[in-house]
Amino acid sequence: MSGLPAGVMREATIDVGAIEHNVRQLRRLVGVEVLAVVKADGYGHGAARSAAAALAGGASRLGVADVAEALALRGAGIDAPILAWLHAPGATFGEAVERGIELGVSSLEQLNAVAAAATGERPAIVHLKLETGLGRNGISPGADRIVFAEAARLERLGRIRVIGIFSHLSNASADADRTALARFEAGVAAATASGLSPRLRHIAATHAAIDLPETRLNCVRIGIGVYGLSPFAGRSSADLGLRPAMTLRASVAAVRRVAAGQGVSYGYDYTTDRETTLALVPLGYADGVPRQASGIGPVRIGGQGFHVAGRIAMDQFVVDVGDAEVSVGDEATLFGDPTLGAPGATAWADAAGTINYEIVTRIGARVPRRQVSS
Ligand SMILES: Cc1ncc(COP(=O)(O)O)c(C=O)c1O
Repeated sequence: MSGLPAGVMREATIDVGAIEHNVRQLRRLVGVEVLAVVKADGYGHGAARSAAAALAGGASRLGVADVAEALALRGAGIDAPILAWLHAPGATFGEAVERGIELGVSSLEQLNAVAAAATGERPAIVHLKLETGLGRNGISPGADRIVFAEAARLERLGRIRVIGIFSHLSNASADADRTALARFEAGVAAATASGLSPRLRHIAATHAAIDLPETRLNCVRIGIGVYGLSPFAGRSSADLGLRPAMTLRASVAAVRRVAAGQGVSYGYDYTTDRETTLALVPLGYADGVPRQASGIGPVRIGGQGFHVAGRIAMDQFVVDVGDAEVSVGDEATLFGDPTLGAPGATAWADAAGTINYEIVTRIGARVPRRQVSS
C-alpha cells in the first residue's frame, strides 16, 4: 500500500476489490443467494460503494436496518432489491413502498402500516420476521397464526406480496442455532399452511453461513464477511479466505526526542524509562479509535510494530518508538490486512475488549474514506 497523499492527516482506505472478492468467495462457499448487509454506512466502509462492490461480487440483494438507509442507497443509484428490517413505532412506509424497498415485518401493527402504504399499482413487498430465540424483534410464535392469516388476506387483496420469511441467530452455540432453525422451520410451515408461499427463507448471517451449512436455506445475510473480517474468535480473515477491506492510517504529525522520566498524555499513565523518541499520531477517540485501547493498541510505523503509549485522546495519541528512525510525515497504520503486515481490526478489538465489528463501524466521519481497488 502506497503512503498517504500529501497533506492528508488521516484516512481510511476502502478496498472495493477486497469487498468484491469476499462476496464472491462467500457466495461460492454457501451456494445460495447472498444478501449483503450494508447497514451503518456499510459497517463504516461507505454504504453505496460497499453495495456496488458486493453486487459486483455476486450478491443479489442488500440489507439495511433503517428505511432511511435504504432510501439513501436508492438515491445513490442502487436499484437492486433492498430489505430494511428495523422500524420506529408509528412509522409510515409510503416512500419505501414507492421506491420498491422491501420491508421486514415483525408485528401485526407493522403489517397493517406497511399494507396501508401500498397503492393500487404497487403492493408492499414484505419479508415476515420471526422471533426464534434472540429476544429482539420478530413475530412471536404465539402471534404468528394471526399475522400469517392477515398477511395472506392482504396478499389476496393485492396490497402486499410476501416474498420472504426470515429470522436471526444468536450464535450462542451450534445447538442454540439449531434450536432456532427448528423454530423457524415450524414458522415457515405455519405460514405455508396459512396460504403464504414466501420464496426466500433466510436466517444465517456470516457466522452460521460459514459454520452451520443447514442454516443456509436459500439465502444468507452476510455482513462482517463482506468487509473481510472474521466473526470467529481464533479464526482470522485469511483462515476464511477473506481480505479486510478497510485500512486506517495517519501521517505522524510530530516527533520528539525526550529524556527518561517524560510523562506521556493525560494522567501520565505512561512515563518514559529511558531516552527515547515519541511520535504523535493524529487519530483519537473522536475518530473511533477506542480509548479503552490506551497503552496497548497496536500501530505499525516504518515497517515496525509498536503500541500506543499512554492515553488515547480525542484527536491524537502518542507512540514510543524507542530509537527507531521515525520522521514527521511517516505513515502510521492502525489496522488493515495482517497478511500485508498491518495489525488487524481484531487486534484493536482485543485491545479494547470489543469486537472487530465495532472497530470498523465506529470509525468517525472526520476520517476521509478513499476508495481503492486491488
Ligand atoms: C438482522 C441481521 N442480519 C444480518 C446481519 C449481518 O450479520 P454479520 O455481520 O454477523 O454477518 C445483521 C448484523 O448485525 C443483522 O442485524
